[in-house]
Amino acid sequence: MPYTIEQVKALVREFPDFPSKGILFRDIFPIFRHPEAVECLVDHFVERIKELGQRVDVVVGLDARGFLFGPLIAIKLGVAFAPVRKRGKLPGEVVSVTYMKEYGPDVFEMQADALAAGQNVVIIDDLLATGGSCKAAEDLVAQLKGKVLLSAFVISLVGLEGDKKLKAPVYALIECY
Ligand code: PRP
Ligand code: ADE
Ligand code: MG
Repeated sequence: MPYTIEQVKALVREFPDFPSKGILFRDIFPIFRHPEAVECLVDHFVERIKELGQRVDVVVGLDARGFLFGPLIAIKLGVAFAPVRKRGKLPGEVVSVTYMKEYGPDVFEMQADALAAGQNVVIIDDLLATGGSCKAAEDLVAQLKGKVLLSAFVISLVGLEGDKKLKAPVYALIECY
């Protein structure tokens, strides 16, 4: 049975006090138990991206949950996928950026040949919280002289104002206030 986007949204679950007290964790994994829900989600993002009316060259997905559907979006768009990975996982020449996580600094990397100067990029991740991860990804794309057209998320925690850290526009399927 095909899913509607409202049915996909309803699959996201909340876990209070995970992974630590005071955090309300938003779990997207139930979507992946239903192939037709994943297809609906991917088609929804592809439509939003096509509405930009601009050439997209590379979909950039963030380690780890952005890897769940970033490549699926890239395949439907017929464009490349490039991973942003946590430190020390990517071989060859890389560009790096340090960013702030809840418990201190972390490092994100991209392969230097993952995109060419002047290419247009869409960043994909499951959730926008403080915006630290996505800002780091924007910085990596800028180091490679690419241009971020849009950053798209399943969920945005709007109260944390992560979008204010970002240069490119943000799209989120679910906005949590
Ligand atoms: C989570 C989430 C986003 C990020 C959002 O990733 O998947 O990538 O936090 O937080 P921010 O906007 O405050 O940076 P995390 O690295 O914790 O886990 P993951 O490896 O499961 O994706
Ligand atoms: N990453 C950062 N904050 C999160 C939250 N509340 N739920 C799921 N993933 C997250
Ligand atoms: Mg993540």
